[in-house]
Amino acid sequence: MKSLSVVVFGATGDLFKNKLAKAFFELYRRGVIPETFSLFGISRKSIGDEEFRLQVKEMLTDYPEDEVLPFLSKLFFITGDTNEPAVYEKIQSVFSEGDSIENVCAHKLFYLAVTPDLYENIFINLSKAGLSVPCASSFGKTHGAETKILVEKPFGKNKDHAKKLDLLLCKLFDEEQIFRIDHYLAKETMQSIFSFRFQNALFEQLWSSKYIEKVEIKAYETNDVAKRAHFYDSVGAFRDFGQNHFLEILSLLTLEEPKEYKGEVVRIARAKVLSEVVLSEVLVRGQYEGYEGEDKNTETYFKVALKIKNERWKGIRFILEHGKALNENMTEVVVSFKNNEHGKENKVIFRIQPHAEICTSVFVGFEEQGVPKEMCFPLGVSNQAIYPYEKLLTDALHGDQTLFVSSKEVSEEWRITTEVLQAFSVVPLVVYKRGSFPGDITNLI
Ligand code: BG6
Repeated sequence: MKSLSVVVFGATGDLFKNKLAKAFFELYRRGVIPETFSLFGISRKSIGDEEFRLQVKEMLTDYPEDEVLPFLSKLFFITGDTNEPAVYEKIQSVFSEGDSIENVCAHKLFYLAVTPDLYENIFINLSKAGLSVPCASSFGKTHGAETKILVEKPFGKNKDHAKKLDLLLCKLFDEEQIFRIDHYLAKETMQSIFSFRFQNALFEQLWSSKYIEKVEIKAYETNDVAKRAHFYDSVGAFRDFGQNHFLEILSLLTLEEPKEYKGEVVRIARAKVLSEVVLSEVLVRGQYEGYEGEDKNTETYFKVALKIKNERWKGIRFILEHGKALNENMTEVVVSFKNNEHGKENKVIFRIQPHAEICTSVFVGFEEQGVPKEMCFPLGVSNQAIYPYEKLLTDALHGDQTLFVSSKEVSEEWRITTEVLQAFSVVPLVVYKRGSFPGDITNLI
């Protein structure tokens, strides 16, 4: 790839600030993206290139200035409303100009880091401006250049909205151009599940309800939604986290072994098991005291049990629990095996945060018999918070869709979510104190 032009919609938002700016910088300094690179930030904020560069510089204070400055010179800002065609005409004109100067048709990447209510107009406007195809107006031949669109989660606001958006997206872009993001698929621990599950006879044999008692997927966060109340309000914890991250984790834990661990077969295997997931029960639904949003019915905590209707997982409950403003930051999956004849229980823990590691709890002591010991295998990459985005951007540039969500997965995730949200509507919201232990919230019922 000789040349790359990136457009980020929502470039003054939290995602860009906390994750994307660093991920692009990392890829640039390591030479994963070419020297002939430009990134255009789009938002309604009225700032110019210089102000945008200063903002990004603030995000990169951990890095040496002499490495940051060349990157900053590649950044530009376009102020505009994403609903207005003028923004896209502007993008088309700067692209054409850049391509003519470089005398090359650059690869184009559009990143939608905005709320789903803006997607429809962005898809339509990109297409109308001829931006869904490489170099539509300025070059006769594209010289193999590609145009790709990366869409953040949640994909849509509800099942019908997601379906409508997906139909539109698939009409305006080819499937190979579409990258639906769920960054949890790119977490180190999640990517390690295939080797752990399928390359260890020790566990592969035991991976079913015959030996497993229950599976708990937990994501606790200390932060509240103060800064994101506008987005979070009426979306709530399940749509923000359950609909996507938890269901993707669940699919990787429970899918049948695909022929290869890459490509479309993996997406098909994930979608297949998702199509068998149903709600078992809503256990708790809560909101922390002093929630900043306007919709006082928005949940900031939930605990639900799901089931999978197939032979392998018959009878097991998968407990999903997530909340904001809790006492700790921790994301992990605990697979508990059935008690043996000594009443002892082994566990496998897929820890995603604060450390990426896979642990097994086993009985090995001779003095302290009966006390399980944890044996952990660290998976650490250097920069945990940014790594998933670096990985996803790299894969998208290479056209590898394995770690991106397919249409079918999105649709199954919304089917399950609709069931959960319907059940939520008759479950009263408990109010919990900030900093609560998750266990204490259950006691409030
Ligand atoms: C995002 C959610 O998708 O994931 C946030 O919108 C959540 O609410 C975040 O905090 C968690 O991601 P990570 O990578 O920090 O665990």
